[in-house]
Amino acid sequence: MLRSFALADADDVSNLVSDYEVAKTTLAVPHPYPTDGAAGWIAGHPAEEDRNHTTFAITLKTTGELVGAITLIEKRIHLRAEIGYWIGHAYWGNGYATEATKAIIEWGFAERGLNRIFAHHFAENLASGRVMQKSGMTYEGTIRDCVQKDGRFIDTPIYSILRREWEPSNDIRVMKTRHSNSTVMGERSDLRMSCG
Ligand SMILES: CC(C)(COP(=O)(O)OP(=O)(O)OC[C@H]1O[C@@H](n2cnc3c(N)ncnc32)[C@H](O)[C@@H]1OP(=O)(O)O)[C@@H](O)C(=O)NCCC(=O)NCCS
Repeated sequence: MLRSFALADADDVSNLVSDYEVAKTTLAVPHPYPTDGAAGWIAGHPAEEDRNHTTFAITLKTTGELVGAITLIEKRIHLRAEIGYWIGHAYWGNGYATEATKAIIEWGFAERGLNRIFAHHFAENLASGRVMQKSGMTYEGTIRDCVQKDGRFIDTPIYSILRREWEPSNDIRVMKTRHSNSTVMGERSDLRMSCG
């Protein structure tokens, strides 16, 4: 399920992102993770939504467990958006990032009227590149020394999907829109997504 984060998720978020395995290939997650970092991050989401930055909690349909997060950062003037995501280390390799990415692409085109959705990854983060490929995105090239992390410059391959390349899938349905307590559901795995 993709749903909005609540302050009650702060401890789970903290436990998941405190792991250096999650932090090392992202720019968004500091390491060591600050004690109140998760609560502050969650508290900031409504203001971020006003800037068309939407973050969904990724939870398991069966147990409700929080496994990760996915964000869509929109630039409305160009009807384009960038996706970012992380999955807790213990949950890697189950297809959760791919399913969440497909769902947010669906939501971005169907509900947000976007024209272009893209994502970058650290060149060494092959799993993330694989997620982008499996989500139907096309490799566009690699931006050299695009970001700096831990004192070194990192190349970032970039992938995108355009509205004209996207076809609504059968297995993922957008149930409602963001402002009416959105729900985006994947039917093939035990992942369930919604956002409010
Ligand atoms: C990248 C990340 C989100 C992937 O999440 P996930 O739920 O494990 O992803 P999925 O299970 O949907 O798909 C992973 C794919 O990568 C593949 N993969 C994993 N490690 C790999 C590696 N070292 N080299 C190549 N492919 C790899 C998996 O086999 C799988 O592909 P397959 O289905 O074809 O076998 C997760 O590792 C993560 O959160 N990393 C830390 C944060 C991060 O890097 N976020 C992305 C920033 S761009």
